[in-house]
Amino acid sequence: MCGIVGYIGQQEASPIIIDGLRRLEYRGYDSAGICTLNGGEPQIYRAEGKLVNLENILRETPATGTRGIGHTRWATHGRPSEINAHPHQASNIVVVHNGIIENYLKLKERLKASGHTFKSETDTEIIAHLVEEHYRQCGDFEKAVRLALAEAEGAYAVAILCQDEPDKLIAAKQGAPLVIGQGQGEYFVASDIPALLSHTREMIFLEDGEIAIFTPDEMRITDMAGGLLTKESKTITWSPLMAEKGGYKHFMLKEIYEQPRAIADTIAGRLKSDEGDVYLEDLDIDDEQLAGLEKIFIIACGTSWHAGLVGKFYIEKLARVPVEIDIASEFRYRDPIVNDKSLTILISQSGETADTLAGLREAKGKGGKAVCICNVVDSSIARESDGVIYTHAGPEIGVASTKAFTTQLVALYLLAIKLGRVRGLLSADDCRKKVESLVALPRQLEKSLELDDEIEKIARDYMNARDFLYLGRGNQYPIALEGALKLKEISYIHAEGYPAGEMKHGPIALIDETLPVVVLVPRNATYDKVVSNMEEVCARGGKVIAVASGDEDELRDKVSALIQVPETTEDLMPILTSVPMQLLAYHIAVLKGTDVDQPRNLAKSVTVE
Ligand code: G6P
Repeated sequence: MCGIVGYIGQQEASPIIIDGLRRLEYRGYDSAGICTLNGGEPQIYRAEGKLVNLENILRETPATGTRGIGHTRWATHGRPSEINAHPHQASNIVVVHNGIIENYLKLKERLKASGHTFKSETDTEIIAHLVEEHYRQCGDFEKAVRLALAEAEGAYAVAILCQDEPDKLIAAKQGAPLVIGQGQGEYFVASDIPALLSHTREMIFLEDGEIAIFTPDEMRITDMAGGLLTKESKTITWSPLMAEKGGYKHFMLKEIYEQPRAIADTIAGRLKSDEGDVYLEDLDIDDEQLAGLEKIFIIACGTSWHAGLVGKFYIEKLARVPVEIDIASEFRYRDPIVNDKSLTILISQSGETADTLAGLREAKGKGGKAVCICNVVDSSIARESDGVIYTHAGPEIGVASTKAFTTQLVALYLLAIKLGRVRGLLSADDCRKKVESLVALPRQLEKSLELDDEIEKIARDYMNARDFLYLGRGNQYPIALEGALKLKEISYIHAEGYPAGEMKHGPIALIDETLPVVVLVPRNATYDKVVSNMEEVCARGGKVIAVASGDEDELRDKVSALIQVPETTEDLMPILTSVPMQLLAYHIAVLKGTDVDQPRNLAKSVTVE
């Protein structure tokens, strides 16, 4: 998804902007561009492809000046190309934009009729022309931006420069993220915190409907009508290093290895072993309300949805509340039956996913309470929810989600325990036992990570397969889905996850000696059933890669490869079996030479529908 960086101050803007854009690369992009102001015409440079292409241009013809805006574009309107890359210009106005202007066709017709001509296929260029038109009429940059944005419908974050008022940078937010960094005699704006961390830790989060007007010495934040707003800054404690690779070949691998720490951080301070309870500091829903719940909805997208599928098992088992789980883009349009006796749980790593945010608004609009499980503090979903359980995974940069997923499972388990306690279904003693199993988890994850070399060998054996099938039952079925998703996301191999018991109703037709089948078969209530399904695969010549728990040597003779994760409880086993899923996909992708951290066509944070 697009990334924005803006700067106004005393330093050269271009290196700051390029560095910031590099730190936003994780969002996914297909072209990049920059504009600086240095007294004359706006200096605009754009290039298709990776940032390095833009940097090569800037080496030949530097963009100079102490004001500037930059952008990495992830195509929505118009193909990836230099002409469609941002910034977009209309005479003296230059714009970068993240999001979609929904009424752009109508606006374009109107502007064309009054003599505007357009160079690109983008919706963004409309904003530049709208501002330019208003500027011509009123001669005031700030007023022109306000009037232009009042006409734009949809979701956006923008940063805008005006050649005739070069001491001003204007940024605005409506539905896409934008954060402001405060320095000494300088200001920064960006789509996300990592872009600014090497310059400042003092940040202000813009809300929807807010406009920020910067000069090098002063910042004003107003509403769309121009009313002055007072906003507090927050000090961000992430170190810039936390957002770097830390010696690993890829962010994804670093993040896989961070899981023991991320999980320890997610449970830290939340376990009350003495009282046999858990404490969720920002849940903000009282026990009485939790006890009276009649229904829970879980809403999410992608990997977070897979976490939700496991969460359903946790909540129904420990708290006996019926759980409906939906993909956010389905939930928001299906007129769900939400009322004040229901709780909606939104799961989102980024806290910015457009469909999940819309699901939250749908649920709240119908009078239900909503809490989110989220990794990004003060993200849109976190701010709009009634309560939050933060996963303390730290910044996740690799597009394929890993540590965010396993910490989401931990957060869901904590919530299920809490619900089980307030609803009188779990005794203090039951809770203590579950807490003990959670405390042991980081160490067991470290053990799972020791399987890395073994899994790399398996990856070598199967990297040339055309398709993969992943099978699991019960709370391992979502892990089969997640394993298949990880593989297709980063290695581009077609993979499907299936409930093991459903294999006979279709996928069994695919099985032959060319098809690797990953079977999740830890010891649990359905162990024997899964072993039978595995035998069905073997009998048809399929190559089974079994993921088992503890010592399962009798399986060894039956399967082509055996991965043995440590023992834990049935509830927490999905967290341990996730690790081989991640490592297998990772190693196959590395062997195939794909772009592991930024796989093609994918974005880390999907802020459009
Ligand atoms: C994108 C990412 C996935 C992620 C999904 C939901 O598709 O590539 O990794 O699972 O969005 O994102 P969220 O931030 O809401 O968890």
